[in-house]
Amino acid sequence: MMRQMDTEDMRIQIEPAKEDDVPEILRIMESANMHKVPSPEMPELDWKCFFVAIMDGEIVGAAGYKILSATDAKTTLMAVLPEYRRFGIGRSLQERRMSALKQKGIERLLTNADIPETIAWYKKYFGYKEIGKLKKLHEFGRTDIDEWTTLQIDLTAWRENHGE
Ligand SMILES: CC(C)(COP(=O)(O)OP(=O)(O)OC[C@H]1O[C@@H](n2cnc3c(N)ncnc32)[C@H](O)[C@@H]1OP(=O)(O)O)[C@@H](O)C(=O)NCCC(=O)NCCS
Repeated sequence: MMRQMDTEDMRIQIEPAKEDDVPEILRIMESANMHKVPSPEMPELDWKCFFVAIMDGEIVGAAGYKILSATDAKTTLMAVLPEYRRFGIGRSLQERRMSALKQKGIERLLTNADIPETIAWYKKYFGYKEIGKLKKLHEFGRTDIDEWTTLQIDLTAWRENHGE
């Protein structure tokens, strides 16, 4: 069986976003119907709290966060362009934002997700636990799913490469 390509084969770099990256980040989010910003579901896109995945000079994925208090944060938007999914780019982005938050002293991280496969991914690879459901305020993300599943991870217990 052919070995699946991963981020090493693909020369992916994960970097903090720059202000100029905002239109590209929104284009990536559009691929997952998560580009309606500002909106009640996503009031702002703070580029200072985003990481981008770059391949051959192009942004192919992005992930953000918002600090809520000295110990708490939530993830904001994350998507990888459909043709670049399943190569580990999402995982690299997620690990990067979790370690950045851990370094800032964040202990608890919340994530709202709607797609069942994505919810399973957060649990399997990072150790998130489901803590509740939340009705969407309006259409955002998957159009056939009208609620968010709220997930939480204890970053003090999380080790990088969890689940390897
Ligand atoms: C979630 C997402 C960022 C993952 O990016 P990625 O680069 O494909 O992630 P990875 O390659 O690291 O991981 C792929 C794994 O995630 C699983 N997965 C996660 N979300 C999935 C989805 N929506 N559809 C199918 N598989 C999905 C795959 O089954 C695969 O698992 P496996 O390795 O056990 O086969 C990407 O699927 C995406 O952009 N989804 C749409 C937007 C979204 O749901 N964003 C999160 C909002 S909270």
